[in-house]
Amino acid sequence: MKRFFFFLPLASLLCGCTQTPDVPAVASPEVLAAGHQVYTANCETCHQPDGYGVPNMQPALVDDDIVAGDPTQIIRVVLQGPATVLPAGRPTYANVMPAFKQLTDEQIADVLTYIRHDYGHGASPIAVDQVHTVRAQFGL
Ligand code: HEC
Repeated sequence: MKRFFFFLPLASLLCGCTQTPDVPAVASPEVLAAGHQVYTANCETCHQPDGYGVPNMQPALVDDDIVAGDPTQIIRVVLQGPATVLPAGRPTYANVMPAFKQLTDEQIADVLTYIRHDYGHGASPIAVDQVHTVRAQFGL
């Protein structure tokens, strides 16, 4: 019996390890540089180079709860556009953000890692696998 209780936590620990998606704990400088490039090419005309957006036109990404929040939600915001994903009753903006389905999984992971790191108080990086999984899950 004693042996059983000893092995149980060990077994669940091992299972936990194999089930955890491969998300690096800290964003590498290479990924952040690549993400910055994706941001410059696709996002900064609206959200601005400093991430503060333009009042009433598009929201600031700096200190934004959605940016620093649930990875699946923010991946979907980029793949499907905010209008499809975010709750009704949120603040309204004059501009409309398109879906960025055409970006690769890697570009989306990089840009989200970049904005979460720079604007989202160092929220966890987004792995390419997570983007791939969300695409598969929602048929995108
Ligand atoms: C044409 C302008 C435009 C471009 C380009 C654009 N966005 Fe947006 N973005 C918006 C607008 C407008 C909203 C708010 C839309 C809404 O709530 O319906 C928004 C919302 C968001 C949000 C949710 C934040 C919040 O609090 O509502 C995130 C995250 C985001 N954008 C990230 C990005 C990323 C990453 C890119 C580049 C891949 C990008 N956006 C490109 C205009 C833009």
